[in-house]
Amino acid sequence: MAEPNFAPGLEGVAATQSSISNIDGAAGLLSYRGFAIADLAAHSSFEEVALLLLDGVLPGAADLERFDHGLRAHRQVKYNVREIMKFMPVTGHPMDMLHCAVASLGMFYPQQELSDAERGNTLHLDAMAMRIIARMPTIVAMWEQMRFGNDPISPRPDLSHAANFLYMLSGREPDPAHTKILDSCLILHAEHTINASTFSVLVTGSTLTNPYHVIGGAIGTLAGPLHGGANQKVVEMLEEISSVQQVGAYLDRKMANKEKIWGFGHRIYKTRDPRAVILKGMMEDMASHGNLRHSSLFEIAIEVERQATERLGPKGIHANVDFYSGVLYHEMGIKADLFTPIFAMARSAGWLAHWREQLADNRIFRPTQVYTGEQDRRYVPVAQRT
Ligand code: ACO
Repeated sequence: MAEPNFAPGLEGVAATQSSISNIDGAAGLLSYRGFAIADLAAHSSFEEVALLLLDGVLPGAADLERFDHGLRAHRQVKYNVREIMKFMPVTGHPMDMLHCAVASLGMFYPQQELSDAERGNTLHLDAMAMRIIARMPTIVAMWEQMRFGNDPISPRPDLSHAANFLYMLSGREPDPAHTKILDSCLILHAEHTINASTFSVLVTGSTLTNPYHVIGGAIGTLAGPLHGGANQKVVEMLEEISSVQQVGAYLDRKMANKEKIWGFGHRIYKTRDPRAVILKGMMEDMASHGNLRHSSLFEIAIEVERQATERLGPKGIHANVDFYSGVLYHEMGIKADLFTPIFAMARSAGWLAHWREQLADNRIFRPTQVYTGEQDRRYVPVAQRT
């Protein structure tokens, strides 16, 4: 039998067919359901984009109202989820907490085994998806209070998805400018074709397991520094650099040691990630209107991007979404270890759209391998081994 092809990291392998989002990596373009990401970030809301991703069409006013109402109505999580979180170490990473808490939702909100009819029943799947999207920000914000010894702040149904999260995070009335920034960031992070975490959604979902396992697996995949975890790493890197004057020497040292520059590079984009372009523009805009702190971190980031692009641009390595998102959240006063959980809150919309798409035409993932181990070895009892 012919050896199967082996493509490390599945580079260039089409693992699915999808109508949810599209990337033109050479031109640096991204669209959701055919709509340019820049238009959605400028004019839409996270609620509308989540429904667009799930349903494939821009919703009418009544459908959007129904979905938004559902999100607001399902923000609360059962008291027992909070009890579980109480026993988690406060020093743990919020992504580990989120992974664990979301997986636990499957015990408190169990999904009956889906019949074939239900698997194709979008209403049933939509209801589950909407509840997960609604509850993830609650869990992240609850943890932010609990890990500092405070009681969680109850969600407010009168606030939008982004505003409610900011309110629960701090207990203060959210600044409308910050709400707008966060809403646009959630839109920009909501979906991105078959990246590592979305691929994990397809694989896990294809076994017909419940969506909490599906999203839990995706959260774990996103946590890694080569994927969503890079936004936290970027801010740590910029803090380590500490001044614009140190940028050149820092980059030289990293390159000499063959170490990666966090927030740079992408498997698909060979030019600047369009989301990085939009995020940088938002930062400049907000800073010029006095809506952000505009610390030295922003200046260092701009210089790192300039000098790293000089060095890495000729290899097709440019700033990705994680480069500026962390800086933006930092300037809004959000702690660095919450950046990736916020990414996960947003990406839950895309993950669940892919979960639904997978179930509509499911076949379990079962790739093959190229075996490189030994064959026909003789078993030797332990006493006779030398
Ligand atoms: N800094 C320096 N060199 C880099 C970087 C970087 N950030 N990214 C890639 N390269 C170099 C590699 O060293 C390699 O060089 P070589 O050919 O001389 O060995 C070449 O570019 C190819 O890199 P790979 O890691 O093989 O590219 P791949 O497509 O497998 O990985 C990835 C893409 C993981 C994003 C990579 O660019 C990276 O590790 N970037 C830093 C982490 C990061 O920012 N991740 C977030 C990505 S966006 C997201 O997931 C939301």
